[in-house]
Amino acid sequence: GAPAGAGSESSAPPVCVLVLGMAGSGKTTLVQRLTAHLHSQNSPPYVINLDPAVRELPFPANIDIRDTVKYKEVMKQYGLGPNGGIVTSLNLFATRFDQVMKFIEKRQNTSQYVLIDTPGQIEVFTWSASGTIITEALASTFPSVVVYVMDTSRSTSPITFMSNMLYACSILYKTKLPFILAMNKTDIIDHSFAVEWMQDFEIFQDALNQETTYVSNLTRSMSLVLDEFYSSLKVVGVSAVLGTGLDEFFVKVSEAVDEYEREY
Ligand code: GTP
Repeated sequence: GAPAGAGSESSAPPVCVLVLGMAGSGKTTLVQRLTAHLHSQNSPPYVINLDPAVRELPFPANIDIRDTVKYKEVMKQYGLGPNGGIVTSLNLFATRFDQVMKFIEKRQNTSQYVLIDTPGQIEVFTWSASGTIITEALASTFPSVVVYVMDTSRSTSPITFMSNMLYACSILYKTKLPFILAMNKTDIIDHSFAVEWMQDFEIFQDALNQETTYVSNLTRSMSLVLDEFYSSLKVVGVSAVLGTGLDEFFVKVSEAVDEYEREY
């Protein structure tokens, strides 16, 4: 069904793009590049930073968690280490997320996309109550997609690749939202090897045959299990640094939203 956006008249509600990924996968760089791309297409996005610990943002955020919670002070006040400080900051912010929702609703006739950058450590968002609250608030009001950013250059070993895909799969099940795998850093290595591994079980097996550990036997079985996951997965190769693959990226986002709306 059509998502209920309060007060939406003629234009479609914005699509929320939640950018998740392991530390260093390139989330922030990708959000920056997507923002620049949309500006150049005369479709400025609404940009939200949910990383309380980021030092400098390379893009102008419309809403920045750092304006509301000072993570260093949260650490001091609650006697926490860096990770506890980040989690608690996100919790504090989540309690006021209804206000953020109001801001997005106000902007829904002017922005086609809402881009959301998440904390460096992925589990802070995906395995926390606040991450769930924020995701559900967005997804119950706007069409939403999860973009899982993968560092392609660090996934060239079949076992590392498999671990990354298992993680992606767990996030799909956790969020139950339309899901796009963005294979980033294709300026370092083309993502075709990974696409081949996903499309052709035997090519993946050949790569695995170079490995003889216990893990490789497990990976062999896992790859059969993941076949189902791969077959419905939307994959796009991008370089956040060069800005390549972004047109295809937005095509996948539209497809994911369309399919999701047809199903629900
Ligand atoms: P956190 O700080 O953990 O949130 O990392 P992040 O996932 O936001 O990654 P970030 O954008 O900070 O990028 C991490 C590193 O990867 C930086 O040094 C980037 O310059 C680099 N990087 C990001 N995207 C690309 C890319 O497409 N190609 C290359 N070569 N490097 C990239």
